[in-house]
Amino acid sequence: MGTSRQIKLGAFIHGVGGHIAGWRHPLAQPDASIDLGFYTSQAQKAETGKFDFVFIADGLFINEKSIPHFLNRFEPLTILSALAAVTSRIGLVGTISTSYSEPFTVSRQLASLDHISGGRAGWNVVTSPLEGSALNYSKTVEEHPDHAKRYRIATEYLEVAKGLWDSWEDDAFVRDKESGVFFDPKKMHALNHKGEFFSVQGPLNIGRSRQGQPVIFQAGASEDGKSFAATWADAIFTGHLNLADAQAFYEDVKGRAAAAGRDPEKVLIMPGIAPIIGRTEEEAEQKYQELANLVSIQQALAYLGRYYDHHDFSVYDLDAPFPELGDIGQNSFRSTTERIKRDAEEGNLTLRQVALQETTPRPLFMGTPEKVANLAAEWFEERGADGFIVSASIPNALNDFVDQVVPILQVRGLYRTEYEADTLRGNLGIPVPVNRYAAKSDEALV
Ligand SMILES: Cc1cc2nc3c(=O)[nH]c(=O)nc-3n(C[C@H](O)[C@H](O)[C@H](O)COP(=O)(O)O)c2cc1C
Repeated sequence: MGTSRQIKLGAFIHGVGGHIAGWRHPLAQPDASIDLGFYTSQAQKAETGKFDFVFIADGLFINEKSIPHFLNRFEPLTILSALAAVTSRIGLVGTISTSYSEPFTVSRQLASLDHISGGRAGWNVVTSPLEGSALNYSKTVEEHPDHAKRYRIATEYLEVAKGLWDSWEDDAFVRDKESGVFFDPKKMHALNHKGEFFSVQGPLNIGRSRQGQPVIFQAGASEDGKSFAATWADAIFTGHLNLADAQAFYEDVKGRAAAAGRDPEKVLIMPGIAPIIGRTEEEAEQKYQELANLVSIQQALAYLGRYYDHHDFSVYDLDAPFPELGDIGQNSFRSTTERIKRDAEEGNLTLRQVALQETTPRPLFMGTPEKVANLAAEWFEERGADGFIVSASIPNALNDFVDQVVPILQVRGLYRTEYEADTLRGNLGIPVPVNRYAAKSDEALV
């Protein structure tokens, strides 16, 4: 296939899943979220499907209304370290918040994962939408940074992290037993960062990995989020309900990346999809209905409330139009809360309809393997996507995708039949960042 553009794939490994009642499915393994065996088998399945990476989501606040998977799940870097040992090619991407962590610690942890895995680590940078997170980090909810400030913190955080990952030039560790020289002091660099939010001297106490630095992932849907992603991210997660929206986002973010002086082809846009695949359309519909029927209306209201700072929707008339909510939810999942309001208004929907629809959205990528492959090909070729993050809303959905959709994409030459590389950057086609100090000394030589 040579160098022609190909679809990239990530597997969203999600324990019992993001659906509120998915764990009740007859085929679901209800303790999957804390079962290493489940994560291992999913990661290995994705690797047989030549996926670029597995992806582990995260959040930092739960209460009794949280979905089951959130209540009892693995911390991303810990599970990814375990998966590093039972896989060899697939990338390992974990979610870490820049609002509730320290850059020195996180840069070090990610660099460690990158070494442990031989250059397969990635970081999904999130800013933590839930204000309750503050309560778990010695702060009050009033001290939870607002949306704009969270992105300012994230920006400085990335500057520090990338600086720390350049602490050592690639050949800094000489390790010459004869002469007794362990490292070349000229190739060790302190960062001496002093900014608005962080003060970090460095150097980091771990060197560069085979892929130079972990790959940066981000999901930014707001204006600030998109600008942040276009500046920093190597790959960007999105969520779209139709191709036109996906194309608009794609063009917008690629344009922002170009404006920031980056090669837009090296900034990958990857919408999340949760395919439901059946041998026939009817079988897929049946699988969807089986999932939707696991949810009660009380559960659906609680689920909806999570997007709106755990707002109590049970006080409203279920069959009246979707209630007026004012500013509720503005400081958390802003782009989602606004979309829900817009959909409700445009579709003239009642609260009951909104709650059930949000709890079990009918996936666009649903139907026979050919139909799902056709859609994936269309989104890719029509520049709505460079690839997809595949999550499983029903048991075996990832296996179905790997066994039934991947071969179709391979036959069409749209997807690899073998890994091109053994680092995450290598497979994604994203260049290794040159160490800033090595770059400077190269300049000095010219
Ligand atoms: C595929 C995908 C995965 C995401 N995973 C997480 C996650 O694990 N943790 C989290 O706090 N937010 C996650 N988000 C939400 C984003 O971090 C971000 O808050 C959201 O896209 C809204 O962007 P905005 O804050 O710019 O409006 C995810 C979004 C998408 C599309």
